[in-house]
Amino acid sequence: MILPSILLLVAHTLGANIECGVRPLYDSRTRYSRIIGGQEAEVGEFPWQVSIQDKGHHFCGGSIISEWWILTVAHCFYSDEIPPIELTVIVGANDLTTSSMEIQVANIIRHKNFQRLTMDNDIALLRLAKPISFDDLTVPVCLPLHPTPSSWHECWVAGWGITNSADKGSMKTDLMKVPMRITDWKECIKVFPKLTTNMLCAAYDNESYDACQGDSGGPLVCNTEPGKKWYQVGIISWGKSCGQKGSPGIYTLLSNYTLWIEKIAQIEGKPLDTKRPRIVVKKKTRGRSQSSKCPALGYPQSWLLSCLLPCVLLRALSNWE
Ligand SMILES: *[C@@H]1O[C@H](CO)[C@@H](O)[C@H](O)[C@H]1NC(C)=O
Ligand SMILES: *[C@@H]1O[C@H](CO)[C@@H](O)[C@H](O)[C@H]1NC(C)=O
Repeated sequence: MILPSILLLVAHTLGANIECGVRPLYDSRTRYSRIIGGQEAEVGEFPWQVSIQDKGHHFCGGSIISEWWILTVAHCFYSDEIPPIELTVIVGANDLTTSSMEIQVANIIRHKNFQRLTMDNDIALLRLAKPISFDDLTVPVCLPLHPTPSSWHECWVAGWGITNSADKGSMKTDLMKVPMRITDWKECIKVFPKLTTNMLCAAYDNESYDACQGDSGGPLVCNTEPGKKWYQVGIISWGKSCGQKGSPGIYTLLSNYTLWIEKIAQIEGKPLDTKRPRIVVKKKTRGRSQSSKCPALGYPQSWLLSCLLPCVLLRALSNWE
C-alpha cells in the first residue's frame, strides 16, 4: 500500500513541476520522417504554444513560461480598453475548434517603453486568473540560455493565423509550424534600418518556402542538440509583407528581457520559480546570468494597431510593412 502511494506522490509532484522545454508526448512517439516546410504541427510538439482570444476569437499567439504567466508582445494589446476579463488563453491545443483548456487573464502588463514607431521593447506578460496544471500537452518553455549559444541545432515558429477576424471560417484552426534560421544582426539591419539591439532576425530555413510566420506574440524556440530542451529565444514581432521569399522576420530578443520578466512576476506576486526550490531538491538551481540589463517596468499608453491584418499561408502577422 505504501509503495503505490509514494509512486502516486512522485507522479503528482512531477506533474506539477514539469521541466521546461520538454515534449513528453511528441518525443515519446516514433517518427519516420521529418518534412521540412510549413505544415501542421503534431499534437504535443509545441506544448508551450497558446492562443490568446478576445471573446472567443483568436488574435495573437503566446507562450507558457510558468503556471501563472503567458509571454507575448505589447503590440497585441494596442488599446487600454481591452479589459483583461474579456481575454482567455487556450492551452494544450493544436486544433482550436476542439474544446480545450481555457484560462482567464487577470492582468495585462505591457512593457512601458514599447515604442509603436520602432517596435522597440515589443513584449508583454499576461497573468492568468488561475494556474495552468501542466501535463503532456501543456509544458512551459525554457527562458533563454545565458550566454546565448553561438549556434542552435534547430529553431521553429508556429502559429494559427487568421485572415479575417470577423470571419471564423477563414481561420486556420490547426497549429502550423515553420523551421527557422537566426540571421546575422549586422546583415539584417541592412534590410531593416530601424532594427534595434533588442530585436533579432530569423528567416525560413528553406528559402524556397514562402509564408508568413505565424501569429504575433508566438515564440521562436530553439534547441542546442537533438532531443534536448527547447528555449524561447524570440517573440514574433514584425517584418516585411508576407510572402516575400527569404525576407527575415523580426523578433523581440528575449535574452534582453529575462530580468524584466522575473521582476514583473515578482512584483505581481507570482514569481517564476516558486515551486522549483522546494521540490526539485537535487537539481542545481538554474544559474541565470544577471548580465542583461533590465529595461524599466511599467504600463504604456494605448496604441492604435490591429493584430488582425490579413496575410497568406500561416497568416496573421501584424506590423508587416
Ligand atoms: C524546400 O522546400 C521545397 C518545397 O517544399 C522542397 O522541395 C525542398 O526539398 C526543400 N528544401 C530543403 C533543403 O528542405
Ligand atoms: C540587448 O542585447 C544586445 C545583444 O546582446 C546588446 O548589444 C544590447 O546592449 C542589449 N540591450 C539591452 C537594453 O540589454
